[in-house]
Amino acid sequence: MRMRNLYRKPTALRCNAGSRCYSTSAVIWSLLGCLLLFHLYSNVHHKHGEGREVQLRVTNHPQLHELQQVEGEIIQLPPKGKRSPRAAKRRHKRVTPLVDEFLDEDSRLRHVFFPGNKSAIHPMRVTGNDSYYYYPGRIWLDTDGNPIQAHGGGILYDERSHTYYWYGEYKDGPTYHAHKRASARVDIIGVGCYSSKDLWSWKNEGIVLAAEESNVTHDLYKTNVLERPKVIYNEKIRKYVMWMHIDDANYTKASVGTAISDTPDGPFEYLGSQRPHGYESRDMTVFKDEDGVAYLIYSSEENNVLHIGPLTEDYLNVIPVMRRLFVGQRREAPAVFKHQGTYYMITSGCTGWAPNEALVHAAESILGPWETMGNPCVGGNKMFRIATFLAQSTFVLPLPGFPGSFIFMADRWNPANLRDSRYVWLPLIVEGPADHALEYSSGLPLWSRVSIYWHRKWRLPQGWSTFK
Ligand code: DGJ
Repeated sequence: MRMRNLYRKPTALRCNAGSRCYSTSAVIWSLLGCLLLFHLYSNVHHKHGEGREVQLRVTNHPQLHELQQVEGEIIQLPPKGKRSPRAAKRRHKRVTPLVDEFLDEDSRLRHVFFPGNKSAIHPMRVTGNDSYYYYPGRIWLDTDGNPIQAHGGGILYDERSHTYYWYGEYKDGPTYHAHKRASARVDIIGVGCYSSKDLWSWKNEGIVLAAEESNVTHDLYKTNVLERPKVIYNEKIRKYVMWMHIDDANYTKASVGTAISDTPDGPFEYLGSQRPHGYESRDMTVFKDEDGVAYLIYSSEENNVLHIGPLTEDYLNVIPVMRRLFVGQRREAPAVFKHQGTYYMITSGCTGWAPNEALVHAAESILGPWETMGNPCVGGNKMFRIATFLAQSTFVLPLPGFPGSFIFMADRWNPANLRDSRYVWLPLIVEGPADHALEYSSGLPLWSRVSIYWHRKWRLPQGWSTFK
């Protein structure tokens, strides 16, 4: 049991036998105190021990150490009077002037937020020093030289082929508004799939689940919504199982869909959609635990509450077990990962395609209780950090061989031209004690710190792939 639970447990020691009771109870209390101190010491010691182990791995590798360097970012906003009227108008609604500027299609900083073709990363053309470097926000091309279309995506490591598969929304169509007040959208084209051995050069495997062109009643009819596809492998039925957010153009269907395939590169057969546990489901993800049990995590109840529940053994359905998390906190874009027995989740707030502040949460048991630890973003500048580096979480991928090291995957949405949305991949490290007071704990550092480090340019430690 962790010390948090010890602190929370009410102590029910009573004595009614007069003054002798005071000395007896004093002895008992002292004994209990000693026991508690010893327990605390061993817990802290144990935790520090764990931390040290991770730190050794991290600091042992000079490149991982580099990734933990705090890197600043200067974004010089135009002086107030010189910002476009559109950005000025937005100022009332948005938290930071940086986000106003970001959302302004005429911003003079457009090239900073969405750098043009010239700086695109072409894995087949990059030479020498630039190989394997991630440049968050730049155009990222596949091995054929086309921009990668895998937005709101997730990655599956396929043990059989020793290959990574990246699935996401294929959004290479025109952005439009279904009606005046509707948010920007692209018709469904399908789920894009890319494969890679090195997590940097990605081969286009095509659209593995395609839109329905003619049947208007079909979930995948092009004017509907298909978002945030995630794939996990089910050993029992030997199928690759895809879960995705299915909606109508107004986001009122609020459902979750499933599809299956015999191979990771598809084609996937669409099975249908449902409202899990009878509730609305919008932004979602799935998480497969080490024991093979998988979970669906989804924004529900008009995005006010996040729901989590286990899937059936075949991963094709939910079972009637569900927990409500972060009630009233309006969190979406969940990305779940696990380190040394602790579950972590990154979420965003709900502001459409506009970026907002990420939060990290932790739990001893995946069904909760979950505690919120605060904003994990490190570096950049303050405005950048409270806008998740102008991006929104979608997935967290463990880095094999480096316990506590992950890739944080996020989308920098371009609401004016969604097909041109960018990828922000950054190192996420779980290490050392968290420094934020927790929601309802004793305030002692109980969880490890989760940090997402900003880098303009970074690469995975050399030789990481030998650990697979
Ligand atoms: C925010 C969600 O995270 C995205 O997946 C998408 O649904 C947009 N909202 C639509 O506005």
